[in-house]
Amino acid sequence: MTETATLRAYGPEHDATTVRWLDSGELRATFGFRRAINVESHRRWVEASPDTYIWAILDTRGAHCGNTLLHVNARHCSGYFQMYIGEPAARGRGLGATALRLTLANAFETLALHRVWLHTFADNLAAEALYRKHGFVLEGIERDAIQADGRFISQNRWSQLADEWRRLREWSEL
Ligand SMILES: CC(C)(COP(=O)(O)OP(=O)(O)OC[C@H]1O[C@@H](n2cnc3c(N)ncnc32)[C@H](O)[C@@H]1OP(=O)(O)O)[C@@H](O)C(=O)NCCC(=O)NCCS
Repeated sequence: MTETATLRAYGPEHDATTVRWLDSGELRATFGFRRAINVESHRRWVEASPDTYIWAILDTRGAHCGNTLLHVNARHCSGYFQMYIGEPAARGRGLGATALRLTLANAFETLALHRVWLHTFADNLAAEALYRKHGFVLEGIERDAIQADGRFISQNRWSQLADEWRRLREWSEL
């Protein structure tokens, strides 16, 4: 089933659900978070991050089901991308794919960025399949880059350039 997502500019009304997702064991592991967060600390982080665009992902009923983030480096015209469908029941419905496409359109077309890059852990098969399908190129493996639970974990780095995005839009049905 493919469900169409929409993006909404992230606001304080999205904080409570976001903190519930980010404080869950699963997303903490996926993103390698160390410190516990709460609504107040999360809001302070949002307000102290003017170079980070955040969009709330809404499903067809308008329910907030995840977020996409783009940490923009204006000097280098690049953006570091992160995404999560926070509600496990909302995964596998096509929302992540639509949210990724909408965010890439914002990045390359609205913000005119040259490069979007991201990290995955190699065991995140769903994310890697999704990014590969949407034109990301594997740049390499950052070996033992993250220390978590007493062991080192490698992460993969992916990127996409503006020309590649334009070609993908011209030649595929994305
Ligand atoms: C990764 C994630 C964003 C994908 O979003 P989603 O809404 O579940 O994915 P979609 O339903 O849009 O599927 C899009 C594509 O992702 C891939 N995919 C999704 N679930 C998959 C799975 N369980 N196994 C393998 N590939 C999968 C497929 O390529 C799929 O395309 P297809 O259906 O045409 O084959 C979501 O699962 C998630 O938020 N996971 C937890 C957080 C996370 O891992 N974030 C990314 C960190 S790098």
